[in-house]
Amino acid sequence: MDDPVNTPEFWEACYESEMDGWDLGGPTPVFQRLASELPKGRICVIGCGRGYDAVTFAKSGFDVTAIDFTDNAISATKLNAEKANVNVNLIQEDIFNLPDNLHFSFDYIMEYTCFCAISPLRRFEYDRVVWQLLKPGGKLLGLFLPLDKELDEGGPPWGVTKSELHDLFGLHWKLVSEEMPKDSISKRLDRETLMIWEKK
Ligand SMILES: C[S@@+](CC[C@H](N)C(=O)[O-])C[C@H]1O[C@@H](n2cnc3c(N)ncnc32)[C@H](O)[C@@H]1O
Repeated sequence: MDDPVNTPEFWEACYESEMDGWDLGGPTPVFQRLASELPKGRICVIGCGRGYDAVTFAKSGFDVTAIDFTDNAISATKLNAEKANVNVNLIQEDIFNLPDNLHFSFDYIMEYTCFCAISPLRRFEYDRVVWQLLKPGGKLLGLFLPLDKELDEGGPPWGVTKSELHDLFGLHWKLVSEEMPKDSISKRLDRETLMIWEKK
């Protein structure tokens, strides 16, 4: 892939130059809610960043695996898990290059600002990757943004629309629920949609 955004070096540079405007500095309220409501199981957080949401699920009793391809993200997630005294299994790898032994492993995938961080040309591949990681009947917990940006404005983050998400996931997944969360953080309110898709 020629686009530098597809490389860990691009994202390491974002972390090192503090161009990390996506980082909330703590857990996401929407995922705190889901962690308290959903039946416990194995969850995989893809593009985990500093791992605040991975730690939230671990604190709630989920068996958590967090994946990111940067040293910065993985070491920060490790530290945050240690501080919270919880276990998070860490995998430093490109989500498009995961070993086959992870296939059909998880009850849930947690998605937040990873989909919009990858090149839009790879969205079909993304669909396949998350589908393969899940057990039959497993669920993709996706908080997708930004809904208010056009694709041709560039990225990351690249814009996303609800209709694109329906077209992309509609074939191999069943929509369980869809909402514009009232507990989005204020600067993302009405700019993100929470969709839960079940693997068919
Ligand atoms: C915008 S940040 C979001 C981090 C985190 N989800 C959050 O909301 O704070 C995107 C993260 O995905 C990681 N990432 C991007 N493309 C990736 C890929 N192909 N494989 C693994 N990680 C990737 C980056 O290293 C970065 O940590």
